[in-house]
Amino acid sequence: MGRAPVILLCVGLLYQTSNAILMDKLADSKLCADAECSYALSMATALDDFSAPDCRFINIKKGQMIYVYSKLIPEEGAGVFWSGSVYSERYVDQMGIIGYFPATMVNETYQFKEETVSIPTTEMDFYCV
Ligand SMILES: *[C@@H]1O[C@H](CO)[C@@H](O)[C@H](O)[C@H]1NC(C)=O
Repeated sequence: MGRAPVILLCVGLLYQTSNAILMDKLADSKLCADAECSYALSMATALDDFSAPDCRFINIKKGQMIYVYSKLIPEEGAGVFWSGSVYSERYVDQMGIIGYFPATMVNETYQFKEETVSIPTTEMDFYCV
């Protein structure tokens, strides 16, 4: 075999990264309701407005309800960030978009599950499209 398979692999990787910009990881591990983080951990209400500083984060308006999907386990000295999506009938365009926000921005009002699983974060937890 020559070099063709290697070149094909490289083209594949370039194609993938051209759609997703990988950003710095905010933490190395996170708490989720299940191993895939597919179920929400809790509901929360935004205590204030939050403007996303970059595409890893979501915009939140005071009073909006948020489904919390994961809670990053903060590194020493770093802020506490959770991921979630806004639930709002008035801002339908924002529904389903999952991103991070500071945990201090919200008041958790309803916990779906008491037990959580701790799993390592991957680059794909912090990509931008
Ligand atoms: C958070 O929610 C609880 C229950 O709804 C409420 O009693 C409490 O005052 C809220 N805290 C803040 C900081 O708004």
